Amino acid sequence: MALRKIVEDGDPILRKTSRPVEKFDERLWTLLDDMKETLADAEGLGLAGPQVGVLRRVVIVLDANDEPIELVNPEIISREGEHEMPEGCLSFPGKWGVVIRPKKATVRAQDRNGKTFEVSGEGITAQCFCHEVDHLDGVCFVDKALRFISPEEVQRMRAGETR
Ligand code: NI
Repeated sequence: MALRKIVEDGDPILRKTSRPVEKFDERLWTLLDDMKETLADAEGLGLAGPQVGVLRRVVIVLDANDEPIELVNPEIISREGEHEMPEGCLSFPGKWGVVIRPKKATVRAQDRNGKTFEVSGEGITAQCFCHEVDHLDGVCFVDKALRFISPEEVQRMRAGETR
């Protein structure tokens, strides 16, 4: 496994649409392993292919127990409820905003062997599913932010929230 460089704001790759994964081979597995290591090293909650310079529909999201979920060709198939959530992104260091996200979201995706599965998440996990899938279509949280906030306001908003 190896750390990959995280692409930051200003790089046009963040604005491109990623292509579906068609081959579930060693190259994909290396990418997934590297993305998990890179995410853990950066202490983030999610990471998408374009953020490591790969325009493929691949995402890692930490679940409520901080275990990484590998999502290949993910699609959000249902959303329930809405709330305002504080949000940041490893590609926008130091920047925070408030984004309306579903309270619950369900994703259909393939695993690293191509098997289709569905997974649901609430709160921050649902937020992460939506944030990361947005990256695959060149959408970043700054596009959806209602307003930008300070790190202190992020802490205030997160206090009392559970994962
Ligand atoms: Ni992001």
